[in-house]
Amino acid sequence: MQEKKYNVAIVGASGAVGEELLLLLEQRNFPIKNIIPLASSRSIGRSVTFKGKEYPILETTHDIFRQQNVEIAFFSAGGSVSKEYAKSAINAGALVIDNTSHFRMDKDVPLVVPEVNPGDIRKDSKLIANPNCSTIQMVHILSPLNRAFGGITRVDVSTYQAVSGAGKKGMEELILQMQKFFNFELDSITPHAFPHRIALNLIPHIDVFLENDYTKEEMKMVNETQKIMHTDFAVSATCVRVPILRSHSESLSIRFRDAVDVGKAREILESSEAVVLLDKPSENKYPMPIIATDTDETYVGRIRVDNFDKKILHLFCVADQVRVGAATNAIKIAEKWIKL
Ligand code: A2P
Repeated sequence: MQEKKYNVAIVGASGAVGEELLLLLEQRNFPIKNIIPLASSRSIGRSVTFKGKEYPILETTHDIFRQQNVEIAFFSAGGSVSKEYAKSAINAGALVIDNTSHFRMDKDVPLVVPEVNPGDIRKDSKLIANPNCSTIQMVHILSPLNRAFGGITRVDVSTYQAVSGAGKKGMEELILQMQKFFNFELDSITPHAFPHRIALNLIPHIDVFLENDYTKEEMKMVNETQKIMHTDFAVSATCVRVPILRSHSESLSIRFRDAVDVGKAREILESSEAVVLLDKPSENKYPMPIIATDTDETYVGRIRVDNFDKKILHLFCVADQVRVGAATNAIKIAEKWIKL
């Protein structure tokens, strides 16, 4: 039987994640009949290249999904755009895979990391949410470990998040500020994408502060992890923006019910899907953003047992925010849905 091919729209095709989606759909040979790049009216007149052919960017409107017979729509243009247009795509008969946080905690919307909870994808799903970038790489690590050592009871995580998390404007702002630094003009900059200067700085503040003194980004890591893993263990996060272009790093402290064996933890992670074990400290081998960038895996290393509590494992993981944390995960969701 001939493989079915789909009309695929990318809402936010001119953005950082949108561009990566196009690249990966091509590289992964996703079954595409027609690609429909969508963005705001600002992008009219621009085009994207897919499989060597130019496609004009069209304006996102309520009618475009029906007009173009869209069957799968990836949304990566921000929560307000998903809020406004996702229903129109669904009403036109498309499956929406939403990269924004808008629908993630809606109880009727599956929130999926294909290596962790593929069973939450249903063929009759109309909308599937892609988790927050920091959550995805964390559950790549937590999920396989949760089955070991009597299960996880608590996770403390500190993140070192790249500027790509703020989209193209975040990446451009870091580059511009670095250029200004070399021209001795750093004092003259006005931050736009971040609350403070990001070049040669770090900012322990991503998204807005909430009543409980955590940020919204930090609470996404708590709530989304529990939803994806179908668990209720405690999670506390501190999310920090760092002057790195596009890979997020995380330092995790994981407490289990029983004592931990570091060799077994390494074995488990080494054989886990979408995870690469890189843990040879004597050879200076451990995960770093320059290793993870442009890859589809979560790298893990620096694995060690706590000096004072043998039930606690510490480790460090890194993944490309634009790919593992967004585009790759979204496409893997679509690939699983197609196979159902
Ligand atoms: P545009 O380039 O036309 O503004 P990033 O996350 O890298 O900042 O990218 C954001 C993406 O979301 C861009 O493709 C941007 O398109 C798109 N976008 C922003 N606002 C809208 C909107 N109102 N309707 C459709 N797409 C939008």
